[in-house]
Amino acid sequence: TTIAVVLAGGVGTRVGLGMPKQLIRIAGKAIVEHTLEALSENQSLDEIIIMMNAATVHELDYLKDDERFPKLRSILPGGETRNETTQLALAALGDDDDVKVLFHDAVRPFVDDRIIDDCVAALDEFDAVDTAIPSADTIIEVDENSVITGIPARAKLRRGQTPQGFRLGTIRRAYELAAKDPSFAATDDCGVVFQYLPEVQIKVVLGTAENMKVTEPLDIHIADKIFQLQSAALSTGELEDLDLSGRSIVVFGGSYG
Ligand code: CTP
Repeated sequence: TTIAVVLAGGVGTRVGLGMPKQLIRIAGKAIVEHTLEALSENQSLDEIIIMMNAATVHELDYLKDDERFPKLRSILPGGETRNETTQLALAALGDDDDVKVLFHDAVRPFVDDRIIDDCVAALDEFDAVDTAIPSADTIIEVDENSVITGIPARAKLRRGQTPQGFRLGTIRRAYELAAKDPSFAATDDCGVVFQYLPEVQIKVVLGTAENMKVTEPLDIHIADKIFQLQSAALSTGELEDLDLSGRSIVVFGGSYG
């Protein structure tokens, strides 16, 4: 069995619209609904659970009886932090250690089948998998005075995305160890495995630029544009699926790239 967990427990402070950003409507639907569509259509996934911002969990009730989403098993309240939301999901996932579980950010609606399939397949060989892309920007490390303390070689750096996938027993064990550590701090789930189960190799699957996380106000506009480009490409039948990375992009009759 392969289960996808949609992490939608956050409040979207940085977007700053006074509502959880996963509820923002773009191209006619809440962002989290677009994400649910992408996961529902994927053949590698058997079940989907949404962990929703606790204060607004009932805003998603309408998805429960939508016949397009037969794999949607439940919508549960998330926690105060992303890691707490993951732990609440783990508590709801039964006790079969071999189950494959993919955690995906609700606010990455452009995840595609290739990424999901690669993650699920990687779990045949590895107990943990991350999704990442190369970094165009040089990443620098700074101290509290904004003075550079390190410039890691860019070629070795990647920008982490989601899905992050695990055998259920592995991610559970990592969080059990984290629970005993008073100085536990992490921002994602691979980070917990990396820190507490150093013997586990975490495979990295290539993400895409489109698999961006809606984080800042500008990202709303970028996401809206990607939806426009996708639907234009679909309606002209020119492209089965829009691939912004590999070929020239046709924008309103003009051609770039
Ligand atoms: N998330 C979650 N539970 C939390 C916090 C975050 O499930 N307590 C989810 C978010 O809903 C989002 C994903 O984790 O889908 C990525 O987190 P982030 O972009 O940081 O979302 P927010 O915490 O909502 O944003 P902000 O930090 O700006 O408040």
